[in-house]
Amino acid sequence: MFNKDTLKNETILITGGGSGLGLSMAKKFAELGANIAICGRKEKKLMDASEILKEHGTEVRFYTCDVRDYERVGEMFDSIIKHFGNLSGLVNNAAGNFLSASEDLSPGGFKAVVDIVLYGSFNCTHHFGNYLIDNKRKGNILNIVTTYAEDAGSAFVLPSACGKAGVLAMTRSLAYEWGTYGIRVNAIAPGPFPTEGAWTRLFPTKKFENKYLGKIPAGRYGDHEELANLAAFLLSDLAPYITGECVTIDGGEKLSGGQFNFIDSVMSRNKLKMAFKMLKLKK
Ligand code: HXC
Ligand code: NAP
Repeated sequence: MFNKDTLKNETILITGGGSGLGLSMAKKFAELGANIAICGRKEKKLMDASEILKEHGTEVRFYTCDVRDYERVGEMFDSIIKHFGNLSGLVNNAAGNFLSASEDLSPGGFKAVVDIVLYGSFNCTHHFGNYLIDNKRKGNILNIVTTYAEDAGSAFVLPSACGKAGVLAMTRSLAYEWGTYGIRVNAIAPGPFPTEGAWTRLFPTKKFENKYLGKIPAGRYGDHEELANLAAFLLSDLAPYITGECVTIDGGEKLSGGQFNFIDSVMSRNKLKMAFKMLKLKK
């Protein structure tokens, strides 16, 4: 579906693009011809990531910027637009998260995560939206949320669940409000994709990790390439009529709450089949 020019003429800012899924998306966009801007708090990480991204021959710049700082985010957008001449895409990917019993959270801990996830996404989106609207340009915003952003939320990651739910509401609200300006706003809700950032904070032991794996019908974690392909598709001209959508990519994990889904954890599939047959015969 893609070719090396799929994202040619695009310039895309990926927040938190120095590591993890942000870097994987940035690599894919560069491979498909986009110029890339990445930002984060740690300069060395961004510098190393930029060297990798330059291998595809498109223009790459990094910006040391904490997305919680509205003024600094504004300066970053000014620099990007001055340097590249335009900006057509924004991926709100930067996030913070940690495991905690909610009764033990400090107000500062709750605020740190919500500030990065929700305010950080708002700060970037607000500057980007104004730039596009003032200059009568079309553009794309892609928000990286989580599967617990809607429906069930999630225990033990309350600040993240609240922040991501807000980002999802922002996705849908702005898709409608800014549709008239030619701005598309979509989201991706990833299931588990191994990254150092997520794994060190959310998967404390191997036992825990294995238990988690058991929840996924596909029987495996996600591959970064799979998510990067989806992101490229949503940002590209292959999806011009898709907006306000949140695409889940999780190997079926989100569906684990189905009322009878648990029963193949009680006995093996073959034993279950025999039990089903006996129930049928009894009737
Ligand atoms: C409880 C914690 C904490 C922890 C920090 N805090 N870590 N509270 N448990 N493990 C509290 C501190 O006590 C402090 O509150 C407040 O948070 C701010 O702490 P700082 O260290 O100053 O935070 P800061 O430098 O701003 O860092 C933000 C961070 C950190 C969110 C706490 O983890 C971070 O930088 N994360 C970025 C990367 C990341 O999290 N990646 C994973 C995304 S994975 P007080 O009140 O004491 O001042 C993801 C996927 C989910 O989202 C789905 C997976 C399947
Ligand atoms: P990650 O590698 O820790 O990525 C987070 C990035 O955000 C880092 O590069 C970090 O760089 C940057 N960042 C954090 N706070 C920032 C701030 N205040 N300002 C600017 N940049 C900041 O984690 P990841 O797993 O790739 O997560 C990427 C996205 O996917 C997140 O939105 C996450 O919620 C989502 N997600 C991931 C998974 C998964 O399984 N991995 C599942 C669901 C959703 P600095 O530290 O240098 O600032």
